[in-house]
Amino acid sequence: MNQISTDGGGAAQLTSRKILITGVAGFIGFHLARHMLNAGWVVAGIDGLTDYYDVNLKRKRLSILHGAGGSGSNNFQFHHNMLEDADKVQQVFEDFRPDVVVHLAAQAGVRYSLENPRAYIDANLVGTFNVMEGVRELKPQHFLAASTSSVYGANTVMPFTENQRTDHVLTLYAATKKANESMLHSYAHLWKLPTTVFRFFTVYGPWGRPDMALFKFVKATLADEPIDVYGEGNMQRDFTYIDDLVESIARLVDAVPQAGQPVGNVEDSLSPVAPYRVVNIGGGRPVGLMEFIEHMETELGKPAIRNMMPMQKGDVRETVASAELLEALTGYCPRTDVATGVRSFVKWYRDFYQV
Ligand SMILES: NC(=O)c1ccc[n+]([C@@H]2O[C@H](COP(=O)([O-])OP(=O)(O)OC[C@H]3O[C@@H](n4cnc5c(N)ncnc54)[C@H](O)[C@@H]3O)[C@@H](O)[C@H]2O)c1
Repeated sequence: MNQISTDGGGAAQLTSRKILITGVAGFIGFHLARHMLNAGWVVAGIDGLTDYYDVNLKRKRLSILHGAGGSGSNNFQFHHNMLEDADKVQQVFEDFRPDVVVHLAAQAGVRYSLENPRAYIDANLVGTFNVMEGVRELKPQHFLAASTSSVYGANTVMPFTENQRTDHVLTLYAATKKANESMLHSYAHLWKLPTTVFRFFTVYGPWGRPDMALFKFVKATLADEPIDVYGEGNMQRDFTYIDDLVESIARLVDAVPQAGQPVGNVEDSLSPVAPYRVVNIGGGRPVGLMEFIEHMETELGKPAIRNMMPMQKGDVRETVASAELLEALTGYCPRTDVATGVRSFVKWYRDFYQV
């Protein structure tokens, strides 16, 4: 079954390309799957529907995916599996035979890694290994996987560039992601598997995660409850709007790393011994937490009740991405300003929860 599709780079081509997305019921997985379905891809998704946050939100996302990609489209299949179940993961790979794999499933969240560290070991180390084994067996054209800006840990030189050392991570969450980067590099080298690792920077937007700041702030403020503002509000984040993130990922799908062929005019992170590269996805424009809150207040038309708190264990004061490599590879860089992004989140939240 061939179709005309517009790929992330914008070029029309004859394709029946198949993409496997882990964590497809999650915030980012859902948006990516919807984007790829609308671009004509066949999508298989795996997700264990963990109860880290409201499973109902994950089910609602899935129901949208089942209807996405045009009327009568049957291009989405869902597998309700934990990644720790190696046999089931392998079966999905063998049955679907993906051209591209995007691995997003993980136990996410910086703060929860202090409460329940074992969840990170199971999902992020064992789970990622099982996905790597599927990739080794089926050899898709490109394997892409999510890491995080948290691997920059205690680094203070901004912006964060991909070639900076990442030896001083501050949480077990970041440690598992850094371990993932090493694991993926070893397989890229041993089995010649073209692999791109993304480092995401504080992603937000409609259908976002209930454990993240904007969701919590909006929920509390609408209920006239106080919001906990950590670091006394003196924090900066390179907030990345979800549509910009998905556009970046879709374009990176076609930027397949090839050993010995770095991209020109920019410092590439391409490995000297493997078709492996790390790419930041962030816009390089940090915004203060207080400014972020003010945009929310403007959109809600009411002030938040601020409960100023000290820095949390494991938190960092500032994140700023260098987007140079992303731009060199894709011709694209996240661009949505926070006022616009916060507005669309608040609109979605009010529609979805009818408040
Ligand atoms: N959202 C951000 O700001 C951000 C920032 C940096 C990195 N990341 C990374 O991006 C990826 C996606 O994050 P998200 O924000 O969409 O999170 P999310 O929690 O919304 O999505 C993750 C999905 O993976 C599933 N999952 C978790 N453990 C699983 C397991 N063991 N087996 C099968 N499924 C499992 C969950 O049910 C969930 O639906 C993660 O790898 C995360 O670490 C996200």
